[in-house]
Amino acid sequence: MNTASGAATLVPHRLSWQELPEQVRAAAESALGAPVVRDVSQSGGFSPGLASRLALSDGRRVFAKAISADQNPRAPRLYRREIEVMRSLPASVPAPRLRWSYDDGKWVMLVLDDVDGAMLATPWRPGQFARVMSALERLADGLTPAPVPAMSIVDDLAENFRSWHAIGADPQLASRLDEWARANLTRLAELESGWASAARGDTLLHADLRADNLLLTDDTVIVVDWPYAVTGAPWVDALLFLPSVAATSDLDPEQAWQDFRPAHAAASGQVNSVLAAVAGDFLYQSLLPAPAGLPTLRAHQREKGMAALAWLRRRIS
Ligand SMILES: Nc1ncnc2c1ncn2[C@@H]1O[C@H](COP(=O)(O)OP(=O)(O)O)[C@@H](O)[C@H]1O
Ligand SMILES: [Mg+2]
Repeated sequence: MNTASGAATLVPHRLSWQELPEQVRAAAESALGAPVVRDVSQSGGFSPGLASRLALSDGRRVFAKAISADQNPRAPRLYRREIEVMRSLPASVPAPRLRWSYDDGKWVMLVLDDVDGAMLATPWRPGQFARVMSALERLADGLTPAPVPAMSIVDDLAENFRSWHAIGADPQLASRLDEWARANLTRLAELESGWASAARGDTLLHADLRADNLLLTDDTVIVVDWPYAVTGAPWVDALLFLPSVAATSDLDPEQAWQDFRPAHAAASGQVNSVLAAVAGDFLYQSLLPAPAGLPTLRAHQREKGMAALAWLRRRIS
């Protein structure tokens, strides 16, 4: 996955506005006070529901995302969580405001401010990357201490971030790793076990930063798609993000990390622990069967896992 068309193929089919049930559309149009006259489906991201920039008959524009368990059984819960986060994000955060939400027990919808921005080009361009890293410094500053209560990353990712341990306990899974990872499984599991004390902190993190969750306007970087928001150390968001950049460009994650101001507060061992946990999580996920409606997710996770592992390997060799 390294081109804009590659990004588009991540989602085989997104719902259009017309494909939503009549009662869902009617509720939204009534709340918005005007009918939808144009639907421009967005290609970034993974969820197989609606993700569209909508034009209303009176000229206003909004962005809407909607899904039900029929598209993906886990998605409605995530969308509910995103509603909670978007309700409470302070205006200082460079994110779209939530205008309206809907939940009838089956269908869940968010209507947000439409961001007139461009998706980031992948492979990453150095100039855009530099803008994003500066934006992440400002984001970490502005979200410390966390302006809203949120779950700690330590609790949210406890299951995910013991993946080397899980792979080590399953010879079948372990046999599908590359040679270096197989030979270093014990060391990786040891490193991973230090992640929670390293990542704990009081910054509100997005925890799912990637090219498709960032939009560039003329003068800002807007961060979208916040269902995974948690609290943690101020440097964790960038550390979770950089493997996705390394997977889709020649940019050097270590150089970017050295240049990233919040990273200066992290001890090298702490960084290695969280990076090991991230690499293990992506690689473990990539070995599982593809979830319903998301056929390309596993390859994407594998690329990010391999990029995180290559970066860690350089740091600890
Ligand atoms: N408020 C918005 N305004 C304009 N475009 C948006 C907005 N929010 C998201 N997008 C675009 O829609 C895509 C999908 O939205 P996102 O919230 O990331 O959904 P998903 O959960 O499917 O990843 C994003 O990659 C982005 O390009
Ligand atoms: Mg997204």
